[in-house]
Amino acid sequence: MDLYEYQGRALFARHGLPVLDGGVATSVAEAREIADRLGGRVVVKAQVKVGGRGKAGGVKLADDAPEAETHAQNILGMDIKGHTVHKVMLTTTADIAEEYYFSYLLDRANRTFLCIASVAGGMEIEQVAHEQPDKVVKRPIDANEGVTEAIAREIVQQGGFPDDVKDQVVDIAVKLWQAFKAEDATLVEVNPLAKTPEGRVLCLDAKVTLDANADFRHPENKEFEDTAAVDPLEQKAKEKDLNYVKLEGEVGIIGNGAGLVMSTLDVVAYAGEEFGGVKPANFLDIGGGASAQVMANGLEIVLGDPAVKSVFVNVFGGITACDEVARGILSAFDLLSERGETVTKPLVVRLDGNNAEEGRHILDSAANPLVERVDTMDGAARRVAELAAQGA
Ligand SMILES: Nc1ncnc2c1ncn2[C@@H]1O[C@H](COP(=O)(O)OP(=O)(O)O)[C@@H](O)[C@H]1O
Ligand SMILES: [Mg+2]
Repeated sequence: MDLYEYQGRALFARHGLPVLDGGVATSVAEAREIADRLGGRVVVKAQVKVGGRGKAGGVKLADDAPEAETHAQNILGMDIKGHTVHKVMLTTTADIAEEYYFSYLLDRANRTFLCIASVAGGMEIEQVAHEQPDKVVKRPIDANEGVTEAIAREIVQQGGFPDDVKDQVVDIAVKLWQAFKAEDATLVEVNPLAKTPEGRVLCLDAKVTLDANADFRHPENKEFEDTAAVDPLEQKAKEKDLNYVKLEGEVGIIGNGAGLVMSTLDVVAYAGEEFGGVKPANFLDIGGGASAQVMANGLEIVLGDPAVKSVFVNVFGGITACDEVARGILSAFDLLSERGETVTKPLVVRLDGNNAEEGRHILDSAANPLVERVDTMDGAARRVAELAAQGA
């Protein structure tokens, strides 16, 4: 889960990192109130989960509250790289003498944690690494040892941080690691870590990604969840432990195994071209050992999407054999009508693999007019696209 800057800043503050006073607003009036409270010069910052807001005009300095109000007016509703700004954060400003970069992240490729630090901050670290590689320190962090003061001092030394800020950066490096570890983060990034002309070091930006697999350990972080931005069907699927992603098209897709579902999306999109550009409406992987109940839940989610005109159930029988899947589909129809959500959209089912014959026989015997059986993936994709085009 990626956090907004204002959430990352709150998390930093919780761990004793130096951040500036401020608040978050969803309206111009609220922004004005915060600016009035802070007094004097403030910065108004677009809250979107994408970098480079400064360059895109989403970060503006204001000399006083009326100017902050104008900036909030302009920034709220702005589009930054496809993200609409619904919130702005206002904080006091810092005069900046120098901008540094500091981060910890999970380095999956090397199966370790990594610290990246540089005295050339402010801009994108990838660019710094490319243009001035000698200015970027990369140091693996041992999970058991963590970042002790001694290790932090080595990083700061190696990074060539100026003498007058070394102690502060060491302190920040240790606290930032503690935050990273305690919150089960996979990324904490401060860019810029700024030095003021008076020699104070401050975290002026906060980029944090939390490991969703550790959510259960952090009930206090539930408030960070962005329920407004989550699709209601995705929310419902999440509650039922289904791997569901809403897409733009008309053909509902249900399959077992992420790889199979991904390739199903491709064949449906390809087949759909023939029918005026019909596309997959979702990704839904019901997993290896899917029961009738899971199939019913999956169908409920997919059929609950008003954009869906037809559904493709593509199953390769493995641990769960095709006969069980076939029974699952049929009982899903019953379960759904019991729930008052009688199925009215056509389903195309392709069963292959373990006990495919038996499964096909079960479906054929049931002779449900809404269920069509097609034995090849391409054939089924073509038929389901055709049905979607007819239903549209
Ligand atoms: N509180 C602040 N006071 C003064 N300048 C700031 C402040 N916050 C950000 N800036 C300036 O704006 C730039 C962009 O802000 P930042 O939060 O890093 O957004 P992004 O990384 O998305 O562009 C920073 O590099 C810094 O120069
Ligand atoms: Mg930044």
